[in-house]
This record gives sequence, C-alpha cells and structure tokens, in this order.
Amino acid sequence: MDTTRPIIALDLPTADRALALVARFGDEPLFVKVGMELFYAAGPGIVTSLKEAGHDVFCDLKLHDIPNTVKRAAASLAGLGADLLTVHAAGGKAMMEAALEGLSAASNDPAVVAITQLTSTSEEAMHAEQLIEAPLAESVVHYAQLAQSAGLAGVVCSAWEAGRISEATDGSFLRVTPGIRPAGAAVGDQARVATPEKASSMGSSAIVVGRPITQADDPVAAYHAIKQAWNSGLQS
Ligand code: C5P
Repeated sequence: MDTTRPIIALDLPTADRALALVARFGDEPLFVKVGMELFYAAGPGIVTSLKEAGHDVFCDLKLHDIPNTVKRAAASLAGLGADLLTVHAAGGKAMMEAALEGLSAASNDPAVVAITQLTSTSEEAMHAEQLIEAPLAESVVHYAQLAQSAGLAGVVCSAWEAGRISEATDGSFLRVTPGIRPAGAAVGDQARVATPEKASSMGSSAIVVGRPITQADDPVAAYHAIKQAWNSGLQS
C-alpha cells in the first residue's frame, strides 16, 4: 500500500461527481476513500468504477456487527476490489478476526484498519455513555492493541494519538490520520487538525484529506501541494 499518497476522501453525493473529480487527475493513480455518503448513494459500483480507472480504494464503511456478518461484508467489499477497509474495534477481537477471514480468499490482499474511539466522542461522553472509566487516550491505545492482536494492519487515529499508538504497537502498525489541514486552510467541523508535515512528525503513517482537496478551486494543485508537504515531513 503506497501511503506516500494522501488518501483523498471522496465525500460527494453522487458517482458522477466523484468520477468527475478523479478524472481531473488524468492518468495519475490515486488512493481514494469511499465513505458512507458516496457508497450508500452511488452503490457498490462506484468502487468497481474507481478500480477500473486505476485507483486504490479505501472503503471506509466502519463495519460493526456480529462476526459472521462482518466476515461476509468484508468478503463482499474485497470482491469489489477494495484495497483498505475499516471496522469498529468496539465490535471485539472475534469480529476483527472474522473480517480478516472474510478477506482470506481475496486476490488483492486488502488491509483492514480499526476505528477506536470516534474523534467526535468526548471523554465525558465516553464515560457517561459507554461506562468506560479509563481516560479516552487509554481507551484508544487499548483498542489499537486489541486490533493488532486480532491481526489488523492499523487504526484510524488523530495525529495527536499517533505517537502513543506507535509506542504501544509494532512499528509496521498503520496510523491512518484524517483531520488534515494545510496551514491556513478552513478547519470546518474538525476539532483537532494537523498540517501534513505535523501529522508526519507526530507519527501518522498515512493521511486522509477531504475538503481541502475536493472543495479547492484547483483540486489537482491542492492535492500535489499536500502530497509534497506530507512527503517532505516523512523525509525530515
Ligand atoms: O473533509 P475532511 O478532510 O475533514 O475529511 C476527513 C475524512 O475523514 C472524512 O471522510 C471523515 O468522515 C473521515 N474521518 C474523520 N475523522 C475520523 C474518522 C474518519 O474525519 N475520526
């Protein structure tokens, strides 16, 4: 998996708009993320269309169900050609292992990363609603270690959590980080953002970038600037 490329979050309402955006990049192979909005609106065909256009596809559908259902859902996503997918660590170790079992027959060897605590979950809400007494950061690291013990490739985490997760897991365990904003860009609804360089220095191993690219006047130029910043951070 080539994580030198920022993963572009195609948070768009139709297949036409998503495909028009990637078409602006010509023949350049991209790593794109299809989340719930696009997948549920456009249907599974959007994944096959993006694969046929030569792109790597991250299916961010955050699977969370009984192990057998997740196993079959993961197999379905692998059948579409997904290269990377997400499951909720809260579904448990058996569920995460089942997701990997569902991929065992896939020819393209997709990777699975876990969602730990959603970044929209505050420490107070976690205590009150999930009855988890540990600090939020501890819960995130615990879920990361559980995901690693299940054999997953990594977790989705903020740049601010990447260092602790890196220390608590093997070096190859991926820290996939959304909430990326180039210096001076609109933050939008993201709470804790980092520049691409900062994410790199804080221990992220891949970045996910949506609106700073999809809503830019020139998405291709915005992507290349972010890619350059990310890779300059990786090298320093
Ligand atoms: O537009 P923006 O760059 O904020 O998009 C970030 C992407 O990463 C969105 O698709 C969002 O759903 C996703 N994401 C996130 N925070 C998480 C998990 C996923 O922003 N904790």
